[in-house]
Amino acid sequence: MENLSLQLNQSFFGSPENKGRVLTKDEALGLLDDWVKNEKLQVHMKQVAHLMKSYAKSQGYDQATLHRWYLAGLLHDADWDQWPEQHCSKIIKELESRAIDPEIIRAIASHGPRYFGVNPETEMDKMLYAFDELSGFIHAYSLMRPEGYLGMEVKGVKKRLKDKKFAAQVSREDIRDAAERAGISQEELIQFVIDHQRDADLF
Ligand SMILES: [Fe+2]
Ligand SMILES: [Fe+2]
Repeated sequence: MENLSLQLNQSFFGSPENKGRVLTKDEALGLLDDWVKNEKLQVHMKQVAHLMKSYAKSQGYDQATLHRWYLAGLLHDADWDQWPEQHCSKIIKELESRAIDPEIIRAIASHGPRYFGVNPETEMDKMLYAFDELSGFIHAYSLMRPEGYLGMEVKGVKKRLKDKKFAAQVSREDIRDAAERAGISQEELIQFVIDHQRDADLF
């Protein structure tokens, strides 16, 4: 998705005193509606939000943590639709000015290390990077399957990954790099996306 390179030249995001400060789900969805007119992009962000929340849940984290993971996923591409040349500095500035938890801002800032120059460090950072491209890729695959996610298998996804012409804009290198950084096999990540993405609340 990122074909522009905007190095953020920033390694600290937000302010530690804002720890625990979040947008409510309605506030975040409102921001999404204001900023993102492209429905496909909204779907992508809601799917990544759902994966992030589902992953946090699978780790047994509390509700407040689940919500922070959800927000990082939901807002990570918020500025891409209208201000691609400012992706992702505009959403970072917005969340900093709204005094949002730095953990969320940092995850957003590191969702494309090759593009933004910020390395994923925390588990939230790494999982956002790991789910981002894979989510879009598997969604594209579901759309070409008559039964969507039903009966989808890891090996089918892997076969498509090898087919360079399928969803050609999705960087296979980012998918590989992200899985490696997360310390989770590609197979396991793909299975997680297959199992959870179909349940994403898109409205
Ligand atoms: Fe992005
Ligand atoms: Fe994305």
